[in-house]
Amino acid sequence: MTRTIFSGIQPSGQITLGNYLGALKQFVALQPQVSDSSTDQAYYCIVDLHAITVPQDPRELRERILDLASLYLAVGLDPKRSTLFVQSDVSAHSELGWILQCVAHMGELSRMTQYKEKSEGKESILTGLFTYPALMAADILLYQTSLVPVGDDQKQHLELTRDLADRFNMRFGETFTVPEVLTLKQGARIMSLDDPTKKMSKSNPNPQSRVELLDSPDEIRKKFSRAVTDSDRAVRFDPAGKAAVSNLLVIYSLTTGQTIDDICTAYDGKGYGDFKKGLAEAVVSHLQPIQARYRDIRSSGEVERVLHEGSLRAATVAERTMKRVRERVGLGSGSRG
Ligand code: AMP
Ligand code: TRP
Repeated sequence: MTRTIFSGIQPSGQITLGNYLGALKQFVALQPQVSDSSTDQAYYCIVDLHAITVPQDPRELRERILDLASLYLAVGLDPKRSTLFVQSDVSAHSELGWILQCVAHMGELSRMTQYKEKSEGKESILTGLFTYPALMAADILLYQTSLVPVGDDQKQHLELTRDLADRFNMRFGETFTVPEVLTLKQGARIMSLDDPTKKMSKSNPNPQSRVELLDSPDEIRKKFSRAVTDSDRAVRFDPAGKAAVSNLLVIYSLTTGQTIDDICTAYDGKGYGDFKKGLAEAVVSHLQPIQARYRDIRSSGEVERVLHEGSLRAATVAERTMKRVRERVGLGSGSRG
C-alpha cells in the first residue's frame, strides 16, 4: 500500500535534542527508498505561517527558515526521496486553512492544550494562535497524508485533524484521507534538563533546560553536567520514581542505539558523574558530523534551490486537492478550470 508521510517543524527557535529525537530522526528513517519500486511519498515542511502565531522578527525569521532547511538536510533528509518545502511558498495551505476554520468549532479549538499553555497568562493573544490547529490540519490533508510522525505533544492536534477530515468528508463527500499519527514508544517526549516534569522546548526561557542541535561540545558537556538528577545514586530506569535519570537514559539510548538495560549495566555502581560524562560524549559524537554537514550546506546556496524545487512539487499535489475542495464546497466562479 502506498503511504504518504507529512510532518512539519516551526522555524521559531533553535532545534532541540527533543525535536531531533522525537521527530526529525524519525523523518529520516521514514523516507521512501529511491531504489525500490515503492510509491511512498514524504513531505517535510517548514511551517513559517505557524511561527507567526507569536511575534517574530522578520529578518530573523527568514534566516531561521534557511537554518532549519539546512538542518533538515544535514540530519539526512534527501531531496530526491523527500519533498522539502516552506509552508508559505505554497499558498494552498492558507486557503485550505481558512476553509477548515469554517469547519472547526470554537469549542474544540478551545480545548487544545497547546493553545491553553501558550496563551496562559498572556494579556494579548493573537487570533492565529487559537485557529492554529485548523492550519495544521490543512497542511496534512492537502497531501492526502496517511501517516504523520510527531512528538507526543501533537497527538491532540492530530485527533482534531482526523475529526475535521471526517466532518468535511461527511458534509461534502469523500475528499480527504483520514491520517494516522505515528509517535515513538520512547523519545516521543524528551523532558527538560532542569525539570523532568516539563517537555524540552525551544521556547523555554532557560537555555540550560535544553540541548540545541548546534550547541558546541563544551556547551553540551556543561548542560548535561548541570542536568538535575535525584538524591539516589543508582542509574536505573524508573520513569515514575526517577523521572530525571530516566529521561537521560532515553536520550542516551536513542543517540547510541544501546538498550536502556545495557546502559544501566555499564554504569552499575558508578554514580551519576560518570553517567553524565558518558552521555555528553555520546551526544557530542552523534551531533558533530551533523554540525559539520550543516555548516557546509548552510553556506553552499544549495538550500534555496532545494526549497524552490520542493515548493513546485508540493504545489502541484496541493492544487489537485484544492480543485476538489473548491468544487465540493461550491467556492469560486468555476472559471479557473
Ligand atoms: P515544534 O518545535 O513545536 O515545531 O515541534 C516539532 C516536532 O518536534 C513536533 O513533532 C513535536 O512534537 C516534536 N517535539 C518537540 N519537542 C519535543 C520533545 N521535547 N520531545 C519529543 N518530541 C518533541
Ligand atoms: N504544530 C506542530 C508543532 O508545533 C508543527 C506542525 C505544523 C505540524 N503543521 C504540521 C506537524 C503538520 C505535523 C504535521 O510541533
